[in-house]
Amino acid sequence: MTFSRRILLRRFAAGALTSAAITPLDDYPSASPPPRPIRLDKNENAYGPSPKATEAMRASLQLANRYPTVEYEHLAERIANFHKIKPEQVTLAAGSREILRMAVTAYLPPGKNLVLASPTFDAIAHLARLAGVDDVVMVPLNKRYSHDLDRMLRESDASTGLIYVCNPNNPTGSLTPRKDLELFIGKVPSTAVIVIDEAYHEYVGGASEYASFIDHPLDDDRVIVTRTFSKIHGLAGMRLGYAVSSPQRSRSLSSSKLQWGVNVVAAHAAAAALDDIDFVRLSANRNSNDRQEFYNKLNARMLRAIDSLTNFVLIKTGLPGTQVVEHFRKNELLLGAPVPQMEKYVRVSIGSPEDMREFWRVWDLLPAHQMSM
Ligand SMILES: Cc1ncc(COP(=O)(O)O)c(C=O)c1O
Repeated sequence: MTFSRRILLRRFAAGALTSAAITPLDDYPSASPPPRPIRLDKNENAYGPSPKATEAMRASLQLANRYPTVEYEHLAERIANFHKIKPEQVTLAAGSREILRMAVTAYLPPGKNLVLASPTFDAIAHLARLAGVDDVVMVPLNKRYSHDLDRMLRESDASTGLIYVCNPNNPTGSLTPRKDLELFIGKVPSTAVIVIDEAYHEYVGGASEYASFIDHPLDDDRVIVTRTFSKIHGLAGMRLGYAVSSPQRSRSLSSSKLQWGVNVVAAHAAAAALDDIDFVRLSANRNSNDRQEFYNKLNARMLRAIDSLTNFVLIKTGLPGTQVVEHFRKNELLLGAPVPQMEKYVRVSIGSPEDMREFWRVWDLLPAHQMSM
């Protein structure tokens, strides 16, 4: 897709606006109509970062001459304080995807296999294959769109180096109950390392079946939890994620760490974002309102979707997902990549009200067809 000069200028203007003034959250979004393409494809925070993070980024630009040594230590300490753990338990990276790459390097030497769900956020499967791992075992989700832990257990053996669990899961937005995960972890081979990806943790709210493995840790050195600043914190473009694990696991993850891969501006942004609890709370509330409104619109059209506890929804379209995605792309609106295992579904990230108005306008241009189940 090409972007016209007018669109680029509008984007620059929007960027200048947000950095020039600290905008109260309720004044977001400022731009109407929204800049093109409308991005409902990557589960970002549609309202941008916390104004405090924006301010920290601006202030830290003057440190661009420095290597991020002090910043790295400082941020690891801030994250440790936030989670009430030791800084040695924190591994920083340029996005949590980078942590997944480090886990592949550390725990999937030749002869080891990876077990994960399908569909899930499968970056780790691609990374493993790139690293030469042939044995990637993908276990379909169960009927509730939770991880089929019994089957994952059956597929795990002494050759299993890594088990990846995305909770809540992307692209379904669904949960795997905490108590089932605990039983599962207790039974998997003692040599397997379990990565629990909590990228969408802040959106879950008070769901009774859910508890973070950082906030409520198991006394089990095999568990590594990943988090990201790309979602609710609205800092996807800054590339910052982290893992929480035992100090020993952090050291083995770090064996393939890109030195100073986290830049000075991103580190300052993340520290400010972590402190801005009000922004996180407001973003979660706003998302749940916007998501409810999206479900209302789906219901009005007799469309079905999977219940989501995240900032995206997987909807059943009645048409091949590839066709729907292409139709939206032609109308300058990006949706999640088609899910091969669920070919009539598309994943829609929840955008601003303006974004979603445009989504429905373009939706209603789709050819008439049997959209419900
Ligand atoms: C479940 C999950 N984990 C990790 C990531 C990657 O996040 P990051 O931007 O920190 O690399 C994503 C991005 O969409 C995701 O959905």
